Amino acid sequence: MSKPLSNKLNDLVNNAAISLHVPGHKNMTIGHLDRSLSFNMDMTEITGLDDLHYPEEVILSSMENIKKHPDYTAHYLVNGTTSGILSVIQAFSLLRGKYAIPRNAHKSVFHGLDLVNGDALFLDMAISKKTNQYLGPDVSFALEYLKDSKMGILTYPNYYGECFDIQNIIRKFKQLNIPVLVDEAHGAHFDLVGFPNSSLNFGADFVVQSYHKTLPALTMGSIIFIHKNAPQRDNVLKYLSYFQTSSPSYLIMSSLENAQAFYENYDVHEFYKKRAILIETLKTKGMTVVEVEDQLKLNINCNGYSGYELQKIFENKEIYVELADEHQILLVLPLWHHEDDYPFEKLLDRIMSMDIEIRENHKLSDVHFQLERGTYYSANIEKTKWIDIDKSEYQILANYIVPYPPGIPMMFKGETITKNMIKLMNYWNDQQVRVEGIKNSKIEIKDE
Ligand SMILES: Cc1ncc(COP(=O)(O)O)c(C=O)c1O
Repeated sequence: MSKPLSNKLNDLVNNAAISLHVPGHKNMTIGHLDRSLSFNMDMTEITGLDDLHYPEEVILSSMENIKKHPDYTAHYLVNGTTSGILSVIQAFSLLRGKYAIPRNAHKSVFHGLDLVNGDALFLDMAISKKTNQYLGPDVSFALEYLKDSKMGILTYPNYYGECFDIQNIIRKFKQLNIPVLVDEAHGAHFDLVGFPNSSLNFGADFVVQSYHKTLPALTMGSIIFIHKNAPQRDNVLKYLSYFQTSSPSYLIMSSLENAQAFYENYDVHEFYKKRAILIETLKTKGMTVVEVEDQLKLNINCNGYSGYELQKIFENKEIYVELADEHQILLVLPLWHHEDDYPFEKLLDRIMSMDIEIRENHKLSDVHFQLERGTYYSANIEKTKWIDIDKSEYQILANYIVPYPPGIPMMFKGETITKNMIKLMNYWNDQQVRVEGIKNSKIEIKDE
């Protein structure tokens, strides 16, 4: 039997691929996770190993040790932040009102809405001038608009490491007694010295962090933090056991415990030293480094190159980045530490050996985001058909369109297709971006 997946993974390991992407252990070179975990710890709920669905013993003690903020309890997630988001949305499903969400919500939010047939208000959005991406909700939105919503959901930081005034937005929701879920998937390292504040400091009701993304934890390891005054607590805990496997991985749970210890003992000194050297090296090669609030993220662009082209240049040197868009690539830096195993010198050498020519400015396509309010309808569209993208103007989209990574749905089921949307879909097609919802230049629309 051939083993295509194992073969590919072996190729990457044998070529000493360098990681500038998630997970935070960077191919097991950060945090010495491989010294703390071993395959024979892949156990099950035998006597003494507790039960994630009803934790009373070692799992409970381990979770009680996660003391990021005194107002919150921590609960392990072995199916990623996704399972936390689904559980919170489900727990509020029987209350009246809509969910209020940003247009850059992760697809798990939309999947949650679909599962509960829940409709949502899109918040007015702000765009970042630095990265040309959704930044977050426009803080100036009127309270009036929110008054019928039952829950606010925020993505913080955005995928590119940018932060907005989340404290103010949470305050607005709270003024109306609307609970808030913060998808802080990319912020498990927040509150370390020099990094942004976590929304745990601002009274959000639920905060979900993907420990695996930025800290040295195994992929799928996340934590949901629940505020002591959060409504629907028991309901959320109930649904965590619906959305999570009854055979949780002890390796993942144990890696969460290790990641927390790493976080608590982390000394940022080595990180900032190496980060500065890396930035200088990238600049020496003619690249522009765009720094954002989260110092763990660097957005890189280069005159005359699209992000997709830059990504190829990095990959030709066996350096893998987090994502590329037409403007830039995104690097997720390692949390370097004393005596880590990260191949830092090799990274610098490989960057120095890149062939980057001097080019005229790259002409960017004039892609427009949707910034305005709107409503997301979760109801299923029963009768659908697939048609060419080019023939789809004024049709109703029957499926999400999601470029991946980062997995943000850019267009939504139920939206009327515009010229601009067609242009954008054709662009992704030409650039061979992997887009869920587009197959052979066709998309699924509502069949009248
Ligand atoms: C903003 C955001 N939220 C949620 C998720 C889902 O997180 P997980 O992979 O831990 O389920 C992701 C993953 O890419 C994400 O980027």
